[in-house]
Amino acid sequence: MTGALEEAQPPRRKVIDLRSDTVTKPTAKMLQAMMSAEVGDDVWGDDPTVNALQDYAARLFGKEAGLFCPSGTMTNQIAIKVHTHPGDELLCADNSHIYLYEGGGIAFNSGVQPKLLPSNRGRITAGQVAGAINMEDSHFPTTRLVCLENTANKGGGSYYTLDEIKAIAEVCRTHGLKLHLDGARVFNAFAEAGYGPGDLGPLFDSVSICLSKGLGCPVGSLLLGTTDFIRRAHRIRKVLGGGMRQAGFLAAAGLYALRNNVERLRDDHARARRLGAALQGLPYVSYLAPVDTNIAIFNVAPGWDAKALAEWFRSRGVLLSTMAPGVLRLVTHLDVDEQDVDDVVQLLAAAATAAELAPGAAPTPLPAATTAAADGINGGPKAGLEAGAKEGIDEAGNGGPGACVGGVDPTAGEE
Ligand SMILES: Cc1ncc(COP(=O)(O)O)c(C=O)c1O
Repeated sequence: MTGALEEAQPPRRKVIDLRSDTVTKPTAKMLQAMMSAEVGDDVWGDDPTVNALQDYAARLFGKEAGLFCPSGTMTNQIAIKVHTHPGDELLCADNSHIYLYEGGGIAFNSGVQPKLLPSNRGRITAGQVAGAINMEDSHFPTTRLVCLENTANKGGGSYYTLDEIKAIAEVCRTHGLKLHLDGARVFNAFAEAGYGPGDLGPLFDSVSICLSKGLGCPVGSLLLGTTDFIRRAHRIRKVLGGGMRQAGFLAAAGLYALRNNVERLRDDHARARRLGAALQGLPYVSYLAPVDTNIAIFNVAPGWDAKALAEWFRSRGVLLSTMAPGVLRLVTHLDVDEQDVDDVVQLLAAAATAAELAPGAAPTPLPAATTAAADGINGGPKAGLEAGAKEGIDEAGNGGPGACVGGVDPTAGEE
């Protein structure tokens, strides 16, 4: 009986987009909150919803003030600008977003040079920071700022422990360095790491959080800090063209997300772990990075063609992203449910026995769905994996040459 009912169901037509958690669309309830927002001109400081969001987030993290900005790139870059002078140096992980994926903004906006510290899946240590600080000497740039990323995107969603961060904060305090957090996905860390915003906020001089990743908003990031820091940040936001007018419609989505979409991140993590478990032991997976939060990254085994694999999934309605040649990534988020994960788990197993994917198989002609994607269905030419892979970078600024996570099999990218 159940079988007959199942057969009567039309086939699922939904595209399961696992490229990034930035791809979510606002839910009906979020849209409702947005549409009923009270707004004003935020450049005049008149938007009550923007003001409420800034206050709410600042209080959450134990900071004095907040600033609503269009993107996480802008909040990070403003923080760097405010904390530094041209010719200074900042310390960050070698695969951090601020260095790799913000268009050279550290140099462009602030005239600052980064000193890259080799990371453990995107995380650096207090010892590394202490060892990297330049001595006071006119030959050397002044080490001024340390930037941490938590969770670490290219680290496959890995997160710091509170003790690790406390130790880094202590080194910064001792040496008079500022400490900034790129917390684009810090709520994912909170869901796993046993600490919360009230623990982290006081350890940092500035905190950037993104509303447009796991929290499901269409737009928006917040920069948090002292009243004086935010006053100076406000001026830089203006210079960068980031002053928005009736931005309360967007801020309302942020308030909604902070109140409703934080707890559910645990579901994303459980789903990512399910995907990770399904990937374990598959013949085309040579290395699977630990699945700590909502990101699963794997290296494609020698002999298998990563591009053909991604294409095979895409032609079946599942989008993955290419982090680097031979490195694929799956990200769970608000728009991926249990049924989607069931479907992907089945496909992951099916790919292992698909004759056309087997090592040594002749290349197959592109299926119709691929052409449709290239024609603009599913988001236009750039949305396709092919485009992302060619450019080496995807829509969210992820990927790019050498994009494999630290700790991934060093043969990554050789295929
Ligand atoms: C760790 C990290 N920081 C910052 C950003 C930048 O955010 P936005 O895309 O809003 O500029 C991203 C985007 O993916 C990210 O992953």
